[in-house]
Amino acid sequence: MNYRLFFSATQRNRDCIGDVLSRIIKKKGSVLEIGSGSGEHGVFFQKRFPGIIWQTSDPELVHRKSISSWIEYEGLTKKMPPPLEIDVVKIPWKIPLILAQSLQGIVSINMIHVADWSCTVALFRESGKLLSKGQFLILYGPFKICNKHTSESNYFFDNSLKMQNDLWGIKNLEEVSDESKKNGFSQEDIIGMPANNFSIIYRKVS
Ligand SMILES: C[S@@+](CC[C@H](N)C(=O)[O-])C[C@H]1O[C@@H](n2cnc3c(N)ncnc32)[C@H](O)[C@@H]1O
Repeated sequence: MNYRLFFSATQRNRDCIGDVLSRIIKKKGSVLEIGSGSGEHGVFFQKRFPGIIWQTSDPELVHRKSISSWIEYEGLTKKMPPPLEIDVVKIPWKIPLILAQSLQGIVSINMIHVADWSCTVALFRESGKLLSKGQFLILYGPFKICNKHTSESNYFFDNSLKMQNDLWGIKNLEEVSDESKKNGFSQEDIIGMPANNFSIIYRKVS
């Protein structure tokens, strides 16, 4: 069955996110993606970084079905494992031992602003437990800087998110990075991306 979903933003942002990842990702090992959505990023990055294993995940069944369909459609079933059911707040995350042992980092794209603050807290807490010194956690999406929106369009986007769920919304980068510090990460880089987004690279330092 074909359950593939199409998230239009993935077509626009996958190349530039891939360019950021290419600076960080090592040739071998696994990368765990949290909140993989349709799975379009997952298959794209798996093809761009063929030496690694890209492990997708999502709490929503409809998304996990889409991810599996994309993996099959792209002929990647022998390379990519099926998506994991991970809801960041349900801890500990249930991940296979082989993934835990080969993990080089964790990536989450456009997730924390469509979730409440407890998801950011849980993302760092659990990532901090899974990752070792030198490994990375990369977030991509819109952020407020010093509690201010970086564009008018982000201000309107934030309002539209809060109308869907008043606990959702664009997070303030300083508070996100404070959470990272509590869990042994340092903020290594902030990279401005197209359409008023950022890639934030966190590195486990302790
Ligand atoms: C805006 S979509 C982004 C999907 C994909 N990363 C992309 O960029 O196209 C947000 C994703 O975060 C997932 N998500 C929401 N709450 C989550 C949670 N508590 N734990 C893990 N993922 C979550 C949703 O199911 C959805 O797939």
